[in-house]
Amino acid sequence: MPYILALDQGTTSSRAIVFDLEGRPQAMAQQEFMQHFPQPGWVEHDPLEIWQTQLRVAQEAIQRAGIQPGEIVALGITNQRETTVLWERATGRPVHRAIVWQDRRTAPICDELRKEGYEALFRQKSGLVLDAYFSGTKVKWLLQNVPGLRERARKGELCFGTIDSWLIYNLTGGRVHATDVSNASRTLLFNLHTLRWDEELLGILGLPEALLPEVRPSAGLFGETLPELFGAPIPIAGVAGDQQAALFGQACFSPGMAKNTYGTGCFLLMHTGQERVASQNGLLTTLAWQLEGQPPEYALEGSVFVAGAVVQWLRDGLGIIQSSSEVEDLARQVERTDGVYLVPAFVGLGAPYWDAYARGTIVGLTRGSSKAHLARAALEAIAYQSRDVLEAMKADAGLKLSELRVDGGATVNDLLMQFQADILGTPVVRPQVTETTALGAAYLAGVGVGLLTQAQIARRWAVQKRFEPAMGQEERARLYSGWKKAVERAKSWADA
Ligand code: G3P
Repeated sequence: MPYILALDQGTTSSRAIVFDLEGRPQAMAQQEFMQHFPQPGWVEHDPLEIWQTQLRVAQEAIQRAGIQPGEIVALGITNQRETTVLWERATGRPVHRAIVWQDRRTAPICDELRKEGYEALFRQKSGLVLDAYFSGTKVKWLLQNVPGLRERARKGELCFGTIDSWLIYNLTGGRVHATDVSNASRTLLFNLHTLRWDEELLGILGLPEALLPEVRPSAGLFGETLPELFGAPIPIAGVAGDQQAALFGQACFSPGMAKNTYGTGCFLLMHTGQERVASQNGLLTTLAWQLEGQPPEYALEGSVFVAGAVVQWLRDGLGIIQSSSEVEDLARQVERTDGVYLVPAFVGLGAPYWDAYARGTIVGLTRGSSKAHLARAALEAIAYQSRDVLEAMKADAGLKLSELRVDGGATVNDLLMQFQADILGTPVVRPQVTETTALGAAYLAGVGVGLLTQAQIARRWAVQKRFEPAMGQEERARLYSGWKKAVERAKSWADA
């Protein structure tokens, strides 16, 4: 039997899932790894720990599936995006810890670039906004702050990569230094129009081209894994950033189809076909994917930095729940938040506000407010932030969404899903397989080796539950306008 192995390297854990060609999960393994917070606003990962945990879970998943390595016909990689690794080309040794997408240390570099008037140029060429979120300023920071790196980078001794490149390099024993278009489009360095690294943007950031990986289509052959890793070489045939992979796994293949993934953050992507829709409303224009031999496809994205992470904060920061799954029961103890809003701008605000200096804010507390109100306000904040993004999308793409496909850990929460449908006024649809990120990577790999087609994938997508909006128009407008007021209070809080 042919199988596909998907590696899903996320922000808090490394996962691997073995799928059959029908897209049915056969076995899974997962391991969390250390988060490093060396200073407020800084977030780092150890690249070696990422590689080791990823390799271990991949080996474990194969073993649990009870299959022979030779039965795995393709490997797909999907990953936390933007997180930046620099390593020695000759030895594969990282020269610093990875700077994670959530890390805010380069906000001043972005301010500086904005002051110099570069915002419009970056937006036009890369489709992104000047924010610390993206890789470009993280690489610049490393070259500026780690002694000797600038010179070594110039001589071609170092490799830059997002996590996909780092895994490909290690899986192929250092033979391949490559990335795919979707990951490249998150760096601030990639030109959406030419599909090449952009010399002018590299020049502005002072980064030598010698650092950069080769950019390839998301489905197609990248190389083979070293035989000793899994007992047989496996072709790496699909690579995409996790949000684009989820869009693929949700079979959002035609313009106007959209998905929202509820993970650490919330990432709402709308497929826009072969058209690059330039946002007037704070969204990102990004590559969705490119299949070998075909034109690239694009998406509009709204990235919300904190979604599921707000529930972790209720658990670890406040201690009002013991495990994340308790949040729904606690929130259900009250029927409404009674005017309490929680804006989880812990690492600033992403789309559509892009305020690196916003901070978490709770408003509307009264003597009667309880932890149940806070839990409910935290869940509702996830839905409100998604509405902010969807409003911007409607304005940019001029489309009315007929439904929103959802996936990710928090979608098991029926209270949140119903509130999401209510506050959007749009049906929310949960598919049978909610592991759509890994599934998308597996599907891309299947397409990459010519064993799957998009038509087959679209036919397999199936609904598990549909949430219809049940809230009245007036109530929806009243609640949402309270949210907008709360966001105003959170903005620019930590501005220097
Ligand atoms: O852009 C960041 C995103 O790719 C992270 O995704 O699922 O690891 O939170 P996740």
